[in-house]
Amino acid sequence: MKERIVAGEALPGDTELEVTLRPQKLSDFIGQDRAKANLEVFIKAALLRGETLDHVLLYGPPGLGKTTLARIIARELGVGIHITSGPAIERPGDLAALLTSLGTGDVLFIDEIHRLSRTVEEILYPAMEDFALDIVVGKGPSARSLRLDLVHFTLVGATTRIGLLTSPLRDRFGVVARLEYYDVESLSSIIRRTAAILGVKIAPEAAREVARRSRGTPRVANRLLKRVRDFAQIKGEAVLTEQTAKEALARLEVDPLGLDRTDRELLKTMIANFGGGPVGVDTLAASLSEDAGTIEEVYEPYLLQQGLLQRTPRGRVVTARAYRHLGLPAPGLEQLSIHEGR
Ligand SMILES: Nc1ncnc2c1ncn2[C@@H]1O[C@H](COP(=O)(O)OP(=O)(O)OP(=O)(O)O)[C@@H](O)[C@H]1O
Ligand SMILES: [Mg+2]
Repeated sequence: MKERIVAGEALPGDTELEVTLRPQKLSDFIGQDRAKANLEVFIKAALLRGETLDHVLLYGPPGLGKTTLARIIARELGVGIHITSGPAIERPGDLAALLTSLGTGDVLFIDEIHRLSRTVEEILYPAMEDFALDIVVGKGPSARSLRLDLVHFTLVGATTRIGLLTSPLRDRFGVVARLEYYDVESLSSIIRRTAAILGVKIAPEAAREVARRSRGTPRVANRLLKRVRDFAQIKGEAVLTEQTAKEALARLEVDPLGLDRTDRELLKTMIANFGGGPVGVDTLAASLSEDAGTIEEVYEPYLLQQGLLQRTPRGRVVTARAYRHLGLPAPGLEQLSIHEGR
């Protein structure tokens, strides 16, 4: 798959900056007001009672702040955090080692928790429920099951694919928080905050312009700001202006709705080759030489969310809004103008 500047997923160049940009406290975390308000209550209550926080599941599209929130939770609780991921825990023994190394009240953060193997997941159930580890010693008829007590801890799981979580696992989380795409207001604040950390002066309208094209995603906003800053620097601008932001984003081929060339190609192919649909995802995939799964999971969600594409039982359909956005006459209007002899 191509590396896209508007990708919600982390790109190799993101890591270093992201570490410095991560808000440390819940009060510095911009947006996600509902999730934030709930977490604040649960954290405070746990602290008041002197108990560990219930297990927390964070889910939502990539780049919205799941990992950031997991770190903030640990910090607000004043406990240590151990970070791992579903695919990194290969065998039950790996998880047992992790669990037995936790300090009392610590956060165990498992990213991509939907990718845990079944056998590992089964170790996790009693650990989450009873803070216990069931281990089998010996083999054959003399095998015995031993129960080992663990310290109380908080599991924070993160996933972009909650539908892939088994229900026994999902049911063991006391707190489930869904992260939403950010509105332009919140993204503008995030961009201004990032600019301040980077030592870049930015006009509020410039921040809004970058925000509007960031697909509701802080990671994308920060990435776009970094690139736009380069243009301002070359122009020798003391303050990054709206004009420069627009020029830079045009050069980066990120349009006013945050679509990049790949998005526009997908829409244009649907229009040129399939009359705007309906077209099945497999047919479309073949026509774009792309993988159907990539189209469904990576390209489509934002187009659907923006109302540029619609899913119908007969396939995908390009909407009137998409025709307008691309500056193309919508099919209905075209017929009308023929009718009127224009
Ligand atoms: N609310 C926020 N305020 C400020 N910065 C944020 C916020 N949310 C996310 N960020 C920034 O966006 C970047 C991506 O966030 P993070 O890594 O937490 O996302 P994620 O949801 O874990 O992504 P993935 O699904 O790829 O793991 C980080 O640099 C983080 O600092
Ligand atoms: Mg993450």
